[in-house]
Amino acid sequence: MPPMSMPWVRIALVTLALACAGVAQAAGDAQRGKQIGYTCLGCHGIEDYKNVYPTYSVPKLVGQHPEYIVAALKSYRGKERAHGTMYAQASSLSDQDIEDVAAYLAATPLTPGAPTTGSVPTKVAELCSGCHGRDGVGITGDFPTLSGQHADYLVRALVEYQKGDRKNPVMATFAAQLSAADIKAVADYYGAQRPALKTVLRRNWL
Ligand code: HEC
Ligand code: HEC
Repeated sequence: MPPMSMPWVRIALVTLALACAGVAQAAGDAQRGKQIGYTCLGCHGIEDYKNVYPTYSVPKLVGQHPEYIVAALKSYRGKERAHGTMYAQASSLSDQDIEDVAAYLAATPLTPGAPTTGSVPTKVAELCSGCHGRDGVGITGDFPTLSGQHADYLVRALVEYQKGDRKNPVMATFAAQLSAADIKAVADYYGAQRPALKTVLRRNWL
C-alpha cells in the first residue's frame, strides 16, 4: 500500500469505529438491561403465567424484535396501550432504560424462515404474512414476531384492536377483517410455529 494513502485509511477506520459505537449504543446495553429486567421476571419470567381479570397468558418476550419491545413499552407509557401494571412498569423507565431492557429481554431475535407446522390459513396468506411472515417471524423489527406466542394472548390482542382498546391504525384495519373463527385459526396457527418465542426464565437470570 502506498504510504500516501495511510492517513485516509486511518480516518476511514476511525469513522467506521465511531459509527459502530453509535449503533451499539442505539441497540441497547443488554448487561445493563439485565439489572433493570429483574422486576419484569416477576411475571414474564414464569412459564405460563396469567394476567387476571381478564385471564390470559403473559406474552413471551425472548426472541422478540428489540425494536418492537421498545415500541410496546413506549405505547404503554404513552397510554396507546392500556394496561395498569405495564403502564406502571414502563413509566418508571427512561428511554435508555427501555433500549437496554429490550436488548436483554429479546436476547437473540428469531430469524424469518418457512412455516413449520399446519397448513397456512387463508387469512394469514392474504392479510398477515406481508408483515408477520408465514412463519410468524416479523419481517422487520417494526413487526412483532408471533411465532410460538401464547395463542390466547394473540386472540386477546386481536380483539383489543377490533374494539379499539389497543390503538394502532395499521392493526385496526387488519383485525377488522377477521371473524371470531378467523382469529382463533390465525392465533392457533402462529402460536404453533417453530422456532418459538420463549419465556425469559428466572433460573437463567444469574
Ligand atoms: C405484574 C406482571 C408484569 C410485570 C411485573 C411486567 N409485565 Fe410486561 N406484561 C404483563 C402483561 C399481563 C402483559 C400483556 C398486557 C397487555 O394485554 O397489553 C405484558 C406485556 C408486555 C410487553 C408487550 C409484549 C407484546 O408482545 O406486545 C412488553 C414488551 C413487556 N410487557 C415488557 C415488560 C418489562 C420490560 C417489564 C419490567 C420492566 C415488565 N414487562 C413487567 C405483565 C407484567
Ligand atoms: C402492514 C403490516 C401488518 C400487517 C399486514 C399485519 N400486521 Fe399485525 N402488527 C403490525 C404492527 C406494526 C404491529 C404492532 C402494533 C402495535 O404496536 O400495537 C402488529 C401487531 C400485531 C399483533 C400483536 C402482537 C403482540 O405481541 O402484542 C398481532 C396478534 C398481530 N399483529 C396479528 C396480525 C394478524 C393476524 C394479521 C393479519 C390478519 C396482521 N397482524 C397483519 C403490522 C402488521
